[in-house]
Amino acid sequence: MGRFSRAAVAASLTSAVGAASNATSLADVCTVSNIQAALPSNGTLLGIDLIPSAVTASVVYNATTGGGMTTTTSTTSTTYNYCNATVTYTHTGKGDEVVLKIVFPEPSTFKNRYYVAGGGGFSLSSDATGGLAYGAVGAATSAGYDAFDQSYDEVVLYGNGSINWDATYMFSYQALGEMTKVSKEVTKGFYGLSSDTKVYTYYEGCSDGGREGMSQVQRWGEEYDGVIAGAPAFRFAQQQVHHVFPATVEHTMGYYAPPCALEKIVNATIAACDPLDGRTDGVISRTDLCMLNFNLSSIIGESYYCAAETSTSLGFGFSKVKRQAAAGSSSRYQPAQNGTVTAEDVAVAQAVYDGLHNSAGQRAYLSWQIGSDLSDADGVWDNSTSSWSLSIPSTGGEYVTKFVQLLNIDNLENLDNVTYDTLVDWMSIGYFRYLDSLQTTLPDLTPFQSSGGKMIHYHGESDPSIPAASSVHYWQSVKSIMYGNLSDSEALDALNDWYQFYLIPGAAHCGSNTLQPGPYPQDKMQTIIDWVENGIKPSRLNATVSSGTYEGEVQKLCQWPKRPLWQSNSTSFDCVDDNASIESWTYTFPAFKVPIY
Ligand SMILES: *[C@@H]1O[C@H](CO)[C@@H](O)[C@H](O)[C@H]1NC(C)=O
Ligand SMILES: *[C@@H]1O[C@H](CO)[C@@H](O)[C@H](O)[C@H]1NC(C)=O
Ligand SMILES: *[C@@H]1O[C@H](CO)[C@@H](O)[C@H](O)[C@H]1NC(C)=O
Ligand SMILES: *[C@@H]1O[C@H](CO)[C@@H](O)[C@H](O)[C@H]1NC(C)=O
Ligand SMILES: *[C@@H]1O[C@H](CO)[C@@H](O)[C@H](O)[C@H]1NC(C)=O
Ligand SMILES: *[C@@H]1O[C@H](CO)[C@@H](O)[C@H](O)[C@H]1NC(C)=O
Ligand SMILES: *[C@@H]1O[C@H](CO)[C@@H](O)[C@H](O)[C@H]1NC(C)=O
Ligand SMILES: *[C@@H]1O[C@H](CO)[C@@H](O)[C@H](O)[C@H]1NC(C)=O
Ligand SMILES: *[C@@H]1O[C@H](CO)[C@@H](O)[C@H](O)[C@H]1NC(C)=O
Ligand SMILES: *[C@@H]1O[C@H](CO)[C@@H](O)[C@H](O)[C@H]1NC(C)=O
Ligand SMILES: *[C@@H]1O[C@H](CO)[C@@H](O)[C@H](O)[C@H]1NC(C)=O
Ligand SMILES: *[C@@H]1O[C@H](CO)[C@@H](O)[C@H](O)[C@H]1NC(C)=O
Repeated sequence: MGRFSRAAVAASLTSAVGAASNATSLADVCTVSNIQAALPSNGTLLGIDLIPSAVTASVVYNATTGGGMTTTTSTTSTTYNYCNATVTYTHTGKGDEVVLKIVFPEPSTFKNRYYVAGGGGFSLSSDATGGLAYGAVGAATSAGYDAFDQSYDEVVLYGNGSINWDATYMFSYQALGEMTKVSKEVTKGFYGLSSDTKVYTYYEGCSDGGREGMSQVQRWGEEYDGVIAGAPAFRFAQQQVHHVFPATVEHTMGYYAPPCALEKIVNATIAACDPLDGRTDGVISRTDLCMLNFNLSSIIGESYYCAAETSTSLGFGFSKVKRQAAAGSSSRYQPAQNGTVTAEDVAVAQAVYDGLHNSAGQRAYLSWQIGSDLSDADGVWDNSTSSWSLSIPSTGGEYVTKFVQLLNIDNLENLDNVTYDTLVDWMSIGYFRYLDSLQTTLPDLTPFQSSGGKMIHYHGESDPSIPAASSVHYWQSVKSIMYGNLSDSEALDALNDWYQFYLIPGAAHCGSNTLQPGPYPQDKMQTIIDWVENGIKPSRLNATVSSGTYEGEVQKLCQWPKRPLWQSNSTSFDCVDDNASIESWTYTFPAFKVPIY
């Protein structure tokens, strides 16, 4: 009753293609009844129940939103008209409630696409407008734990000792997968498309958003056509505990390096290793050559100076409620630092870059590439003793208290009795406990591959938060698990037909690096759309230098495992094979008896 005729919508949409002469108006389709009629029947999709009475829909005109992950590209004054809807469902018998925000572009701009943006930290994205720029429907989910307003780390424990497993699985992969299944069905009904119409499905995210993308490729591979996953926070147990590693190095050595000395070590490393890739441009494009050829000891004795400062840090855990409460309130004082780099300072940096080993000397984890910022090692200035002292990044500390120790507190108070072996134990506990949820390293992507999915995976080579080598290790795992029976070159060919990995020279965590003015790719969505919809397989990614001497230069990133090299006859970076370099990026983790993908 009163619902816009689905057939009429379909007819006019069809006639609107190309001509756009008789498009269905947004107001015609953006109605509660049209969306109610588009809901899958109870029990027919994933066994969930949709709640028609909870549907909302309203038209939004001339919105300037629509950025999503694309806000960094030079935005024009594009405005969008869209349908702002919510759809609610429950898992049969659970009595829970999951709210989906769904944003439908107006029919004349809809390009049969659906787009998911990733979140970051412990948050899923709460913005559903990211697809508008691509003529795509977008969605966001409350994940059953009010994820629009709360971050997952705030709800992971019901109380000390009790894990909220529903929230854990929803955050890990389930909420986004269900959202995509439901939203695509509703999309077809909303626009009056036949049930076999292809709705091109994209995912784009970085950091935990990269992990979320990998979770979709691993768990809901058939649903996605194009995925862009940046610096994924996967191998969750190892990754989170790794944030506590630098503090543990200093605690173990009984020496807290002045942050300015560490900064000097990083700067001097960049200066020394920049030319190794053949071009002096302020960027270590080859951290592997730096690792193989540069000795940090050569920095001992260099002088440094940093002015006094009071900095405000919001940390990296950015929980939504706390972020608001704490805005501007956590400030940190550093006195002026004037000195020379000591052997101890270098020993701290070297140990951090070497990565965690247990007391038997067995490697437990990889680490940041040499030349990456060492901010996780920064101590705090203790006014009472006039010395640097322990600071535990809450990213890692909160993971240990809440996810490993199951105590509802926000950070470790200290590292009393904590050794490298303790870190390995924490990693093991997290690995076993969350292996089928947060860990997110399933290496068999056959469902995604065989249904035609394409993935661009990227990582800033000087990422100081999530080591670039973490992405390399996963890529290697997928290659060996899926193509272990092929020769190396056959395996590479087979893999790059659908899964391509790019390191971004000098880049930091999900963005460019103030210490290295290198390139950063901008048009990733256009590239993946071309690959998915037009069969244009990329071989190198365009990336623009955003500061420094070469500002504005467009470089072409090399597809792993090829490495950039500026040869004497070059006018741009060539991509070369270098086995010694690849070797330096290749790790095993004998401190664990189980395979670590
Ligand atoms: C739009 O389409 C409808 C149904 O197909 C048709 O009746 C109507 O005349 C068309 N209007 C215009 C302006 O073309
Ligand atoms: C489907 O189940 C939900 C929740 O039990 C209920 O609210 C809704 O009315 C049902 N839908 C239909 C069409 O019966
Ligand atoms: C949207 O903007 C256009 C162009 O500026 C204007 O003509 C139109 O009236 C606006 N629509 C609404 C609903 O504000
Ligand atoms: C979209 O709808 C929701 C739910 O009705 C509402 O809270 C929100 O303000 C709307 N957003 C816009 C941009 O109109
Ligand atoms: C390191 O380099 C950055 C930018 O190049 C500069 O701002 C900073 O002062 C340097 N720090 C030290 C300790 O040299
Ligand atoms: C770096 O140089 C120091 C001092 O010369 C030396 O002791 C150390 O073994 C060297 N490290 C490597 C990895 O070569
Ligand atoms: C740092 O210390 C040196 C030696 O004590 C002194 O010559 C220099 O002026 C100091 N620099 C600053 C910026 O304080
Ligand atoms: C530490 O001492 C400095 C300099 O005396 C002062 O500015 C700062 O507020 C003090 N910080 C704290 C936390 O007491
Ligand atoms: C949970 O454990 C922590 C650490 O032992 C303690 O401080 C806190 O009071 C406990 N919370 C509850 C609700 O028992
Ligand atoms: C550290 O270990 C010592 C000796 O085993 C023990 O007495 C102490 O309670 C431990 N401290 C903490 C904080 O666990
Ligand atoms: C990459 O840059 C080249 C020019 O160097 C341009 O022709 C090409 O269209 C760009 N590719 C994409 C996907 O933007
Ligand atoms: C530059 O020289 C290298 C070997 O010295 C060669 O392999 C490469 O093809 C040359 N590149 C160009 C662009 O001529």
